[in-house]
Amino acid sequence: MYTDSNKRHIAILGSTGSIGTQAIDVVRAHPDQFVVEVLTANSNADLLIQQAELVRPNVVVICDESRYDQVFAALDPLDIKVYAGAASVASVVQMDSIDMVLTAMVGYAGLLPTIRAIEAGKHIALANKETLVVAGELITRLAAEKGVNIYPVDSEHSAIFQCLVGEFHNPIEKIVLTASGGPFRGKDRAFLETVTKAQALKHPNWSMGAKITIDSATLMNKGLEVIEAKWLFGLTPEQIEVIVHPQSIIHSLVQFEDGSMKAQMGLPDMRLPIQFALGYPNRLKSDFPRFDFRQFPSLTFEQPDLETFRNLQLAFDALRQGGNAPCIINAANEVAVDAFLHERLSFLGISDVIAECLATATFVAAPTYDDYVSTDTETRRLASERIKSLV
Ligand SMILES: NC(=O)c1ccc[n+]([C@@H]2O[C@H](COP(=O)([O-])OP(=O)(O)OC[C@H]3O[C@@H](n4cnc5c(N)ncnc54)[C@H](OP(=O)(O)O)[C@@H]3O)[C@@H](O)[C@H]2O)c1
Repeated sequence: MYTDSNKRHIAILGSTGSIGTQAIDVVRAHPDQFVVEVLTANSNADLLIQQAELVRPNVVVICDESRYDQVFAALDPLDIKVYAGAASVASVVQMDSIDMVLTAMVGYAGLLPTIRAIEAGKHIALANKETLVVAGELITRLAAEKGVNIYPVDSEHSAIFQCLVGEFHNPIEKIVLTASGGPFRGKDRAFLETVTKAQALKHPNWSMGAKITIDSATLMNKGLEVIEAKWLFGLTPEQIEVIVHPQSIIHSLVQFEDGSMKAQMGLPDMRLPIQFALGYPNRLKSDFPRFDFRQFPSLTFEQPDLETFRNLQLAFDALRQGGNAPCIINAANEVAVDAFLHERLSFLGISDVIAECLATATFVAAPTYDDYVSTDTETRRLASERIKSLV
């Protein structure tokens, strides 16, 4: 149920990031469809203020409390309520006026606000894949209990969702997630030993936040997406395949039980899946650049190299292990990627840290929310210790 039959009232969590800024573009292009109720950022107060001046939400939250005075001084005169701190994000998502919450913040920080939003019956447009990786069982169970829909924003999962429209009663035989292969596709371990942060941040097809760009270079992004797909579409690990498709035109495929495959295609542009999730079930008119076959005379496909890019294999291992194993690899990955971005860990060191954490962190077969919190804390400690020992 939406509060206003004409317009969807949206909270954008992580509005200052890559997905968040594109979501604001989508919303501003369709003022007849959307109203922004809430914007949140971690510490980028300047951009948050600019965005709030443009879209005039009711509420903004700045997580970094030291920036509160600056944001309050700018927005209070505009009658916009300003809150600070992570706890405020988890509480404002429950506001009565919100229909849908776009989770576009990065990492584990997305988990609690998503839980609180679902508890309050808000539909979720889910960009923050880490939420489903960490606690997919809990989130999907809660969403089913509350009658909440989770609309995928990740381009691969949006592709699968788009292929399933009109097919929800037909069982899926398997899905194929496409991967660009990242900036180091075809490289061997000897090459990867010396790659730098600047090289890893140069994605061939997509412009994204730093963490997901590194995850794309290590193929952990695809691993996280495999786990995300399991929970979104109720699949077994055996039903999920990954294929490298360097042009990023086919965003993913579904194969049905009669053998027919459906794919969703288009130029790589995250505004499309963002808009599809926010506007579902409608396809809103857009002026996004259109795909032209003549510019892509060949679309190619290859097997991912799981020995060189170990993170994808580790993600499949964690998925098969179940319980809190995906939460362990997520926390280890967040710490390792941060260390790589601060030049305290090598590129190949990222998978070493994750593998070690997966082998040593306490395994819990049927985790509760509190278990996820302790797993995240324990794994972050183990990963940090491991990284320090390597310096
Ligand atoms: N970018 C893409 O094309 C893409 C595609 C598919 C899925 N996703 C997923 O979407 C999510 C966002 O990715 P992104 O690329 O947009 O990331 P990003 O550019 O790094 O932006 C992250 C956003 O989250 C906020 N944030 C960061 N840490 C936070 C914390 N601890 N608590 C609350 N807010 C925090 C940031 O605020 P500040 O600006 O103040 O730091 C920013 O608004 C990720 O889960 C990613 O995997 C992204």
